[in-house]
Amino acid sequence: MTVNTFHVAPGGKLSGSIRVPGDKSISHRSIMLGSLAEGVTEVSGFLEGEDALATLQAFRDMGVQIEGPEGGRVIIHGVGMKGLKSPEKPLDMGNSGTSVRLLSGLLAGHGVDVTLVGDSSLSKRPMRRVTTPLSEMGAVVESNEKGTLPLHIKPTAPLKGINYTMPMASAQVKSCLLLAGLYAEGDTCVTEPAPTRDHTERMLQAFGYDVRRDGNRVCLTGGGRLVASNIEVPADISSATFFMVGASIAPGSDIVLEHVGINPTRIGVINILKAMGAHIDVLNKRQVGGEPVADIRVRYAELKGIDIPLDQVPLAIDEFPALFVAAACAKGTTVLRGAEELRVKESDRIQVMADGLQILGIDAEPTPDGMVIQGGQIGGGTVESHEDHRISMSFVIAALRASGNITINDCSNVNTSFPSFVSLAAGSGIKIVTIQRV
Ligand code: S3P
Repeated sequence: MTVNTFHVAPGGKLSGSIRVPGDKSISHRSIMLGSLAEGVTEVSGFLEGEDALATLQAFRDMGVQIEGPEGGRVIIHGVGMKGLKSPEKPLDMGNSGTSVRLLSGLLAGHGVDVTLVGDSSLSKRPMRRVTTPLSEMGAVVESNEKGTLPLHIKPTAPLKGINYTMPMASAQVKSCLLLAGLYAEGDTCVTEPAPTRDHTERMLQAFGYDVRRDGNRVCLTGGGRLVASNIEVPADISSATFFMVGASIAPGSDIVLEHVGINPTRIGVINILKAMGAHIDVLNKRQVGGEPVADIRVRYAELKGIDIPLDQVPLAIDEFPALFVAAACAKGTTVLRGAEELRVKESDRIQVMADGLQILGIDAEPTPDGMVIQGGQIGGGTVESHEDHRISMSFVIAALRASGNITINDCSNVNTSFPSFVSLAAGSGIKIVTIQRV
């Protein structure tokens, strides 16, 4: 395996007009629903990152014929709701929590025998949040005694619909149960404590499935079918975030991010940055395949610290590593609360970001459910990514305002969500060099 270290020289500004790769959440779902549909689904803008490719390979291993990806184009020959086959070997989902949690629901009532495994980071992540409600539906999905991978999904009698109130705001849990609900007798309803990304609901509707939303409750009735549909995947707002924060903190910056998904359940980062004083224009709003997109222009602005509104937390859940860097460059104090979910992402993003920011000379105090950051001068130093793509990219962006070189160890993980990150970052003004060790 190749190990990448990033060396980033301080300073610089962001300029130009770029399109970051396709949305990871939508890419996963396009393979899943395209595989279960009747007919041929054509996907464009598919994210050719390791996580989405792990999902694609899993469906190939379960007998689905999939062409591509080639230049973001994927053609899926759907096998219908009951057409998947038990794979010969465990399915390796790599680093991807979305793949495991959504697949556990999608496969629970399918009648297949599947084992899901993953890398060391994914193998530490909590799975009881899906196995407990799935077992209430009658599924047999077994984790190990710690509630972690491997997950073993066994064929079972037909599932029963469930009325489930989630203890945490999680689109992965919601999606898992809705996908299991496709195979259940009667209605499956999921109530969320706060709105989370709704790509599963939107895409099910695009494939002709009736999904009903009433306030914070979403329901569907099992036993229906999916009809193939063409999917255009917008650029991932979570990947665009690194450039939004970078341009906001680096004096002289002016960058346009093209064709970015601005689904209302994903735009917490724009709302939070604007509340901090960022200069962001959302231009050319349009609708693409059931998802809103826009071009986003970001210019440098002097940021100020804020108390991050609680209702924005689930809407920006993947963006906090980068937002912590924005807070480190802001005038005054930024306080994040209500974000304990960050502790069970690809890494413990509260601890890992606080450690890294402290190494770089920033007063960053982790709390059980967030962080308190005093804006200051970012220094140089060496930080660890802890197998987490978003930690790697966040510290790259920090160098735009640092006083010395920043070295980030173990950055190969960037390929999970953003394989072209280094070339896009270098092309738009970041002084980044990759050192590879085999
Ligand atoms: C995702 C949901 C979020 C997010 C993850 C992708 C999805 O996780 O952090 O990167 O595609 O549904 P949670 O739902 O667990 O918060």
